[in-house]
Amino acid sequence: MKVLFLYTTKYGSAAWAAQETALILEQEFGIQSSLVRLGKDPLPSLGDFNAVVLGAAVYAGQISSRMRSFADAHASELKQKPLGLYVTCLAEGEAAMEYLESNFPPALLAHACVKVTPGGMANFEKMNWLFKFVLKKVSGLTQTTDKRRPESLGPLARSLAAALESPAPSED
Ligand SMILES: Cc1cc2nc3c(=O)[nH]c(=O)nc-3n(C[C@H](O)[C@H](O)[C@H](O)COP(=O)(O)O)c2cc1C
Repeated sequence: MKVLFLYTTKYGSAAWAAQETALILEQEFGIQSSLVRLGKDPLPSLGDFNAVVLGAAVYAGQISSRMRSFADAHASELKQKPLGLYVTCLAEGEAAMEYLESNFPPALLAHACVKVTPGGMANFEKMNWLFKFVLKKVSGLTQTTDKRRPESLGPLARSLAAALESPAPSED
């Protein structure tokens, strides 16, 4: 069993979510994962994995166009195996889920066995001046703020493990 985490990130929250979930999969279920940053790392073949998780950071309400294009281009293949989706952002609850629902293709949203919003982090030490300026304008934040919710990643790992245990019939 092997899970592929494909993510887009600027400042690391989406990578953190992938790392933490992969750790739970390994420790609780003995399931191995590969973590791949879309656009930076070499893209492996989806056929080498039993399940896929797509994770993306939200900026101005949008995930990266690279992730959108990937999800559109590979939707048919992704629908053949258990799929998890997440977005990292500062919004919580319904607002965060709305980002997820409005950014991934409907076919994948319908197929996904789990969708989570593990929060995010505004890291003023790492952020460039323009992002600091925009974030201050839209959120009023002026210093590093950690709104990550690691407790949402256990359910992501457990849903994937359950789907791998008893996979649904593949779709067309
Ligand atoms: C310029 C800018 C715009 C952002 N826009 C949003 C937004 O529209 N909604 C939101 O909830 N969070 C927003 N955020 C917060 C990011 O989603 C958050 O920092 C997230 O953790 C980034 O993920 P990453 O660390 O993987 O890049 C914004 C942050 C910056 C710097």
